[in-house]
Amino acid sequence: MSDILETAIEAPLPLSLLAAQPADALLGLIALHRADTRPGKIDVGVGVFRDDAGRTPVMRAVKAAEALLFETQHSKSYLGAEGDTGYTELLGRTVFGALASSERITGVQTPGGTGALRLGAELLARANSEAVVWIGTPTWPNHGPIFAEAGLATRTHRFFDPASASIDFDAMMTDLGEARPGDILLLHGCCHNPTGAGLTAAQWASIAALCDARGLLPFIDLAYQGLGDGLEEDAATTRMIFDRLPTAILAYSCDKNFGLYRERVGALWVQAASAPITERARANMLSLARSIWSMPPDHGAAVVRVILENSALRAEWEAELDAMRSRINALRAALGAAHPALAPIAGQRGMFAMLPITPEAVVDLRESHGIYMAGNGRINIAGLTRETVPAFVAALAPHL
Ligand SMILES: Cc1ncc(COP(=O)(O)O)c(C=O)c1O
Repeated sequence: MSDILETAIEAPLPLSLLAAQPADALLGLIALHRADTRPGKIDVGVGVFRDDAGRTPVMRAVKAAEALLFETQHSKSYLGAEGDTGYTELLGRTVFGALASSERITGVQTPGGTGALRLGAELLARANSEAVVWIGTPTWPNHGPIFAEAGLATRTHRFFDPASASIDFDAMMTDLGEARPGDILLLHGCCHNPTGAGLTAAQWASIAALCDARGLLPFIDLAYQGLGDGLEEDAATTRMIFDRLPTAILAYSCDKNFGLYRERVGALWVQAASAPITERARANMLSLARSIWSMPPDHGAAVVRVILENSALRAEWEAELDAMRSRINALRAALGAAHPALAPIAGQRGMFAMLPITPEAVVDLRESHGIYMAGNGRINIAGLTRETVPAFVAALAPHL
């Protein structure tokens, strides 16, 4: 009887047939860390910036911009699928420099970098559903699902070699030898997540040449501008790729460099071979956005616009970003100097690094020392402080 009832109830929508989904590992880690009462516990798991006191504060420039918005914003009326065009325009100059005025580049506001990636993926699927997206290993775990959910096939290419703690560029280029014209190459613009490893300028030039020669489309994910070597420096590869190739895509996030995480602030830029094709691409970006989220959330992007259009606030934001970057890079230097096996970390950039340890070691560090990190050994450098580095390295040393 109960079977019949269940069948009858489930028939219109067989939810019970949906595949079980794995729990979010990092959320589980947050809960475990919270429940740990040991005083010296260390959280290098969650991927947000932390200051010396372990806080993820609202940036001063953001607070000031929010106060200004509170005083001056007199309407919450709809803007449109493109979001805040002042935001996209000003941010575009920060990202693209002199290229920003090109008629062949167009951008729209999106809900975070994730929204930008997804909108870009939907645009690609609409334009060429046969294209394969090539993704280096390892990568941010959401990359594969974002493109796959948009209906695109994905393939991986070798990127980071854990044994040597460096990029295996030859293996990457060998694997990409199988890419076909029209395929998409996903690239981290700076501060690679999870490895922190960066390509040299010469290697980037080879990638641009490969895309050009084989008709591959570069799709850059720039989620940490300013957190690696500087605002200008971290945009250099994006500008080089957009300068050299007729068609390119950029998914951008302001959620880390403005500390706006939950406000969901991002943008998608597309460059096409001519201004009319760019207009066509923009119309498609807008129609896709309309059917997914209709319009992006306003507040965070309005905050970024207010900061970028006000020279005093902009200077304050840049100074805060400089301090964040200096903190991360000082911790990188301290880790690199503390143990020979950690030396490569000093030369890597961004918030993340992969420790050369086993999954068993990750569990031991958690259980025996209250050190919390992702199961693959990825650490958020900003989760450390000058004071905790020695204890962290001492606990780690037997596993290195
Ligand atoms: C490489 C990379 N791309 C994109 C994102 C998405 O950022 P957002 O929070 O703006 O969606 C992240 C976030 O962790 C990331 O690490």
